[in-house]
Amino acid sequence: MDADNPIVAELKARLGDKYVRTGSDAEGHLEDFWGRARGKALCVALPGNTEEVAAVLKICQRHQLAVFPQGGNTSTCLGAVPDAKGQSIVLALGRMNRILALQPEDFSLVAEAGCVLADIQQAASQAGLLFPLSLGAEGSCQIGGNVATNAGGTAVLRYGNTRDLVLGIEAVLPDGQVWNGLRTLRKDNTGYDLKHLFIGGEGTLGVITKVALKLFPQPPQTTTVLIAFDDIAHLAGFTQPLRRAFDTAIGAMELISGSEVRIVKAIYPDLNVPYDPATPWFLLVDIACEQQDEVNERLQQVLGDALENGHVSDVLVAHSEAHRAAIWRLRHTVTEAHKKYGMGMSHDVAIPLMHIAGFIQQAGAIVASRFPQAEIALVGHVGDGNLHYNVMFEQRVWEAIEDQAATRKAVYRAIYDLAAKLDGTFSAEHGIGALHVAEMAQYKPPVELQLMRGIKALLDPDNRMNPGRVLPG
Ligand code: FAD
Ligand code: LAC
Ligand code: ZN
Repeated sequence: MDADNPIVAELKARLGDKYVRTGSDAEGHLEDFWGRARGKALCVALPGNTEEVAAVLKICQRHQLAVFPQGGNTSTCLGAVPDAKGQSIVLALGRMNRILALQPEDFSLVAEAGCVLADIQQAASQAGLLFPLSLGAEGSCQIGGNVATNAGGTAVLRYGNTRDLVLGIEAVLPDGQVWNGLRTLRKDNTGYDLKHLFIGGEGTLGVITKVALKLFPQPPQTTTVLIAFDDIAHLAGFTQPLRRAFDTAIGAMELISGSEVRIVKAIYPDLNVPYDPATPWFLLVDIACEQQDEVNERLQQVLGDALENGHVSDVLVAHSEAHRAAIWRLRHTVTEAHKKYGMGMSHDVAIPLMHIAGFIQQAGAIVASRFPQAEIALVGHVGDGNLHYNVMFEQRVWEAIEDQAATRKAVYRAIYDLAAKLDGTFSAEHGIGALHVAEMAQYKPPVELQLMRGIKALLDPDNRMNPGRVLPG
């Protein structure tokens, strides 16, 4: 990083010295969440408002400099750190963290893009309302990053993906023009709905600076249920009746393997683990209902047969708020535990619901025969058909593997080929980043890629916004 570079000097003159970081001050912005990739940049610019974002982008356009927008830097697919060339800046949104309006009568909230997700949830809650997007990284990811990645998380079954929660956005285009699409209307059929280009656009088309979000009434009391079972083949036999019986009262439906519980327990021995790691599978279900007794009664009806014929081995209903929190803490600790455990190849696949068990069985057979040293650990938002299928190599096992790059490639390819064969996708909710660009070339139909390239060329003709991300070259 070059503190004396004339472009850095120009950015400092516009934003103030303090808000253009170089050297050790910039370090945290250059390394990804996993600590697996480090990029380089001339500097990290931290604009304080939309006008400053526009000014930074105009300066970058004049100097034909690449721009890497960054939110909370929690991307799991190398989406938020710059490339290794160093001919770029990181544009970090963290200073733009104000909630600008909370309008209960409109069930809407308007915030700057750098607002941390948990702060938005809390503001909604203080107004007696709910912003339902919820994920393990919610204490550090930013709403701009959530919108840019169209994040999923644990509440999709009831409320949809981030795309379904966004009413409007303000974005700055690569040439510095500001597009104000910050409407809170539920209906607006006035031509192409441009916000959807930026939602899930992963910062390749512009910088999201403000968002207008939907709020919801708070659901009634939530009961958390942990269903233990031995054979994945029986999963649909009780997830389907549960969905039919409880419908939108189901707030989350997560699958967790016993192997996953063992990994979390090994890494965090002090964590209160309300799961028995000897059990092969758990289904975690949140059900909203005024009366706990009513939930218990209906659970008994829905799961009675499965319990009797042994397809379900146990049903544990959280008995207190602390118990419920412990169940969810373990679920949300999984990614941090993987980071410390060794080499994990995480596959964020989505599979049509009717093929979930088949996918898990077939993938298990592939891993057992081709990568026998690996363990499979699985969590997933299974109600949405989204599995985080993790092929894990303990550190010492991984270090003993001679051709690590080839092994990694072969694992990804085997799992993604299977997902494709079952009409699934290789990225359900995490996006593409730099990590999955090769899969875009491999699995996306050419016509789809051609349309995407056309949109990219229209908005970012110089290919300066997040170059090397999302689209294959
Ligand atoms: P970053 O990581 O900083 O950036 C992500 C991408 O968005 C990059 O391409 C970046 O350039 C772009 N970007 C960021 N801000 C802007 C902006 N203002 N304008 C334009 N582009 C921008 N994801 C899920 O979907 N569901 C989960 O359940 C989930 N759980 C997670 C749990 C953990 C523990 C961790 C570490 C990650 C998890 N993730 C999950 C992944 C990640 O948190 C999400 O992708 C999140 O939405 C990223 O937000 P961020 O602010 O950290 O964005
Ligand atoms: C989760 C992240 C990895 O669901 O998406 O834990
Ligand atoms: Zn997830």
